[in-house]
Amino acid sequence: MPDATPTDLHSRPVIEFVDLQAQRVRIGGRIDAAIRRVLGHGRFILGPEVAEFERRLAEFCGARHVLTCANGTDALGLALMAKGLKPGQAVLVPSFTFAASAEAVAWFGATPIFVDVLADTFNIDPRSLEAGIATARRLGLEAVGVMPVDLFGLPADYDEILAIAGAHRLWVLCDAAQSFGARYRGRAVGTIGDFTATSFFPAKPLGCYGDGGAVFVDDDATIEVLRSLRVHGQGSDKYDNVRIGMNARLDTLQAAILLEKLSVFTEEIAARNEIAARYAERLKNLVDVPRVPDGLASVWAQYTVRLPRGADRGRVMARLTAAGVPSAVYYAKPLHRQPAYCRYPAAGNGLPVAERLAAEVLSLPMHPYLDAATQDRIAASVEAALLA
Ligand SMILES: Cc1ncc(COP(=O)(O)O)c(C=O)c1O
Repeated sequence: MPDATPTDLHSRPVIEFVDLQAQRVRIGGRIDAAIRRVLGHGRFILGPEVAEFERRLAEFCGARHVLTCANGTDALGLALMAKGLKPGQAVLVPSFTFAASAEAVAWFGATPIFVDVLADTFNIDPRSLEAGIATARRLGLEAVGVMPVDLFGLPADYDEILAIAGAHRLWVLCDAAQSFGARYRGRAVGTIGDFTATSFFPAKPLGCYGDGGAVFVDDDATIEVLRSLRVHGQGSDKYDNVRIGMNARLDTLQAAILLEKLSVFTEEIAARNEIAARYAERLKNLVDVPRVPDGLASVWAQYTVRLPRGADRGRVMARLTAAGVPSAVYYAKPLHRQPAYCRYPAAGNGLPVAERLAAEVLSLPMHPYLDAATQDRIAASVEAALLA
């Protein structure tokens, strides 16, 4: 007998924030068969699926080189290690992001300088980037790079960012943990900047059944360095160590799972975009819905709205919970306010937009298998929660 749809205590269908089981209904059999194949051949470390997945990822986005790795944070770390990041150097990082963006910079004793974001896209404000470069100079730090984050799946303003980076000789490491599959003015994420890092954390648009990540790079010499860094700085032989590296390999099992998921990813991105459009239509008169600038396409890692000023977010969330609608806040505290990061500098005279967004944002359920009836129920619950 097929599984019945789970229901809550009030006999309503349960709404998942990210419904990974719905995808299993579609491709679970193929994924399980792929896992069994790996169990059969037993090459759990850098087995054939890893190289095949790297090839398919490169093909998917048009990158010249792809190196898979253990997670998205290591992907950032590998790129920064390849750049030889060191104390005295600074990297410009948006404050409104997940901790890993700044964390990878701090690993090397370098300084993340926090910059502000734009209220309508949640991504780096190019004017604040200029201010951050001036802040580095004032503090006697050498600004070497910028790490734009494609928050919630939307690419950052790369034309502006690349122009500023070029003028100041900064490298650009795109933190695309949330945006693999998105597009920026005819270019795929993975082909922009000097490096791109992504994550295959289960809840990401392309997620595995554990941790995973990848680095995308154009340069032939750099991919060789990254390959070496991924396995303890190995040289031509496994026990030949030519540099200090890390152990950051993607498991073969995860590569096998991701190969199956990649085969439906394009359709899933299309579904996410339809769902986002439906949300915008239903919610546009109630809240600030996310804006996608012309020529850009998001993968909607999150569907994040801004509540009207004065709305009590805690109360709205409690009412949504009571209605059986999960919601989440990404991110309640910008990084420059976090205990671990507040000692690092912020650009200019503070980061007012990041602070305001942290108080106003609310993320709603988003995954490619969200049906229209459930979305109607979510939108009606948002309306009731705001107006009650
Ligand atoms: C913006 C951003 N950067 C980096 C990461 C780190 O990825 P991972 O969890 O795979 O280490 C994440 C993951 O949530 C993220 O959202």
